[in-house]
Parts: sequence; C-alpha cells; structure tokens
Amino acid sequence: MSSIEQVQKEYPEDYCTLLEVAYGQGFLSEGGTEAIDALVKGFQLDNKKILDIGSGLGGAAIHFAQKYNAMVTGIEINQIMVDEASRRVPETLQNQVKFLYYDDIKHLPFSDESFDLAYSKGVFVHLDVEDKLTLFKEIFRVLKRDTYFIIGDWLSLVNGHWGEKMEEMMRLDGLTLFANTEGNYKDVIRLAGFKLILIDEEDETYAKYNNEIVKHLKKHEIQKKLKEMFTNKEIEDSIHAYRLLHHAIKEKELLIRRIICKK
Ligand SMILES: C[S@@+](CC[C@H](N)C(=O)[O-])C[C@H]1O[C@@H](n2cnc3c(N)ncnc32)[C@H](O)[C@@H]1O
Repeated sequence: MSSIEQVQKEYPEDYCTLLEVAYGQGFLSEGGTEAIDALVKGFQLDNKKILDIGSGLGGAAIHFAQKYNAMVTGIEINQIMVDEASRRVPETLQNQVKFLYYDDIKHLPFSDESFDLAYSKGVFVHLDVEDKLTLFKEIFRVLKRDTYFIIGDWLSLVNGHWGEKMEEMMRLDGLTLFANTEGNYKDVIRLAGFKLILIDEEDETYAKYNNEIVKHLKKHEIQKKLKEMFTNKEIEDSIHAYRLLHHAIKEKELLIRRIICKK
C-alpha cells in the first residue's frame, strides 16, 4: 500500500469527528487559530496567494482568508476532507478559498511559480523521507521566487524510532507516523532546493495544548456529546492518546518544530 493510501485509510470520518471535538471547529491539529497564527507570525499574508498542504477540515485556510483577505488553496489526499471543508466556506469567501483533491505527490495540480507562500501543519509526519522529498520538490516548483514555505510538524530525536509513549499513542489512534529528525528535515529541504531559514522549538506550547485537550475531553458536556457517537473505550483511548502526547513532548520523545524555508 502506498503512503497516500495508508493515510487515506487512517483518517475515516468518525476519527475526524473525534479529532475535531478535541482540536476545535475546523482543526485536526493542536492549538486552533492561536497556533496557526503563531505558525505564520512575522509573515505578510494580506492579499497573498497561499497554498495549504493537507488542509484537513479547512479551519486554517478559512481563518487566513477571513483575517488577511488572502486567497487560499488547500490541497488534500482525502476526498471526504475536501468535500467537508468546501461545504464550510462562508458565502462571502467563496472567491477566496478553495479545496482540491490530489493523489500524486509527484505532481501538484498547479503551474510553476503560482503561490506567494506555502504552509503545512501536522501533515508531513505521515510521509517517509523519500515522499517528503518528492512533495517538497513540487512545493518548490509551485512557489514564486524569494517566497517562504512554513512547516509545523512532529519530529523525533532518533531517525526511524519513536519512544514507548509515541508507539502506544499511534497504536491507540491507529496511525502510522514517521520518526524523522531535524537532520532528515535539513537534508530534504536542501535537496528540494530550499534554503533553511530557521527551526523553532515549540515543545512547551504543544505540551500545554495536549494537556488542555485532556481536560476539555473530560468535561461533563463534552463527555455527554461524545457518548452519543462513541463507546466508552473509544473515548478513554482517545483521552489517553492526548495524555501520552503531553508526556512524550515533556520527555523529548516527540519534538514539535516550526520550520521556515525560502525558495
Ligand atoms: C493531522 S491532520 C492536519 C490537518 C490540518 N493541517 C490541520 O492542522 O487541521 C493531517 C492531514 O494531512 C493530510 N495528508 C496526509 N498526507 C498528505 C499529503 N501527502 N498531501 C496532502 N495532505 C495530506 C491528511 O489527509 C489529514 O487531513
């Protein structure tokens, strides 16, 4: 099975529902609009043409269009996500935000130098180093010169190896995540043609986000809502997975990084 087919299988609709209850409306990763604003902090987004790789349920793309009047294109390998995100675009933003399905990381459906900025959050951990390089070369191609590619992702200290907590978290969530290091990232970025500008550590912030998610999911009204859709075991496993993420970050099994590259 290709890595694309693997990811498609690992994000069924009910799993996305569970993630959205944890992460907040429109998001499938930690921190909501606060984290997505922090990802692009210092960058000029007003009226820019932006590419969101792995746009999920569209929360970030819609937020950037609303806040900065940006034109945002989100791409996804999951058709359900594209349909759902498209359905959520407010009438007033229909000309500014679009979501597209693609299934070939060797070819993004855009001509050369189409975008002023590209970003991606919580996506590349699903790709091994070879697939990262293939996709990064395409992202390089579709970006204009002197523009930036901003990444928020989960990394490991050891290439090809997660610790016990991450292994248990992946088992509970049924996910295949690739343990790539800062060194792997540096190689892939350079080989794809980008210059590495900086790698920021975001561990404390994301440990806090995961702790807050555990507390949120334990609230009476949230438990009540979840119990209408999921079994007690599914809910308990999900909460435990966020607890494991919190501890994995605290103990440096999981590194959260913001990576800025320039074409
Ligand atoms: C953890 S979710 C993050 C979604 C979104 N970026 C967010 O922060 O809410 C990971 C997403 O990446 C998508 N994905 C995985 N591999 C991808 C790829 N090669 N290209 C585009 N999307 C991909 C999955 O379908 C899923 O929607």
